[in-house]
Amino acid sequence: MGNDFLSKGFYDAPIDFSLDLFSEIEKLKKEKNAIILAHYYQDADIQDVADYIGDSLGLSQQAAKTEADIIVFAGVHFMAETAKILCPNKKVILPDLRAGCSLADSCPADKFAEFKKQYPDHLVISYINCTAALKTLTDIVCTSTNAVQIVESLPKDQKIIFAPDKNLGAYIKKKTGRDMILWDGACMVHEIFSLEKIIKLKTQHPGAQLLAHPECEAALLEVADYIGSTTGILNFATKSEAKEFIVATEAGIIHQMQKNNPGKVFIPAPPNNSCACNDCPHMKLNTLEKLYNCLKYEQPEIILEADLIEKAKKPILRMLDLSAKMGL
Ligand code: 13P
Ligand code: SF4
Repeated sequence: MGNDFLSKGFYDAPIDFSLDLFSEIEKLKKEKNAIILAHYYQDADIQDVADYIGDSLGLSQQAAKTEADIIVFAGVHFMAETAKILCPNKKVILPDLRAGCSLADSCPADKFAEFKKQYPDHLVISYINCTAALKTLTDIVCTSTNAVQIVESLPKDQKIIFAPDKNLGAYIKKKTGRDMILWDGACMVHEIFSLEKIIKLKTQHPGAQLLAHPECEAALLEVADYIGSTTGILNFATKSEAKEFIVATEAGIIHQMQKNNPGKVFIPAPPNNSCACNDCPHMKLNTLEKLYNCLKYEQPEIILEADLIEKAKKPILRMLDLSAKMGL
């Protein structure tokens, strides 16, 4: 059995290394009626064992409709928490409970509650990359897929606070012309790209298209050929006539891009230093071994109070309803 796993936040039981983890995970999934939902930023082997791989919107839609008894969420804490909020009667487990998010951490709910008091007549739209506590202070949740459409669906004179990502917020302001109040938060991965190195790379690869996630800074988005969610980026690259792409988002997405487009070349956008900083350190805490243990021992589990679930669920359901009406 694992030692001290709860204090460490992951199930570290020793593994028999002669096991083929891929087939063991398949067996456990069937035995337990479990489903593995994985974000594109997960390691390639986790993506290969997943039942569904997607962006934040797709993953919440899948969680909301699954008939599995157990959801193994291969992603970060706020994503697994969202699945638990949508499916309170199911067991939701996360391979490493410490897999957080710098963006969610940049907006503590108590500080946001104080901030919100200054704008009593504003509606709060929060990016899904936030804690359940922040969602209880939110009117509508959004993801990078539906943020622009959700803001556009509101009356033109509606006053809005957008939290927690200032870069996505600035992008929505530019696209919609709405004057929103922005919380000053950001993602450590999407702010690390070097515009100078990207421009140099573009001159070395003149046919390459720059694909960027809207969590990137405005100056980078300005020179991008396509801006969208991870699913949007993947679909754009698949449809594009171009043969080379510079990818300004977390590098895990390149696994699916390469699988769907064997003849095309995908270059991770360079960071402004020499580390592998376009790997999200939180996402990468999950490993195939931890995923196997988590499914075997059904630990660590996401546990939330009923009251928190009730309050956080409303803005998420509003997003899912609006997305369904918009055909997203
Ligand atoms: P999407 O999954 O909406 O593309 O967002 C990316 C992200 O940063 C998730 O943490
Ligand atoms: Fe959070 Fe950024 Fe990692 Fe996404 S990539 S989980 S926003 S830290």
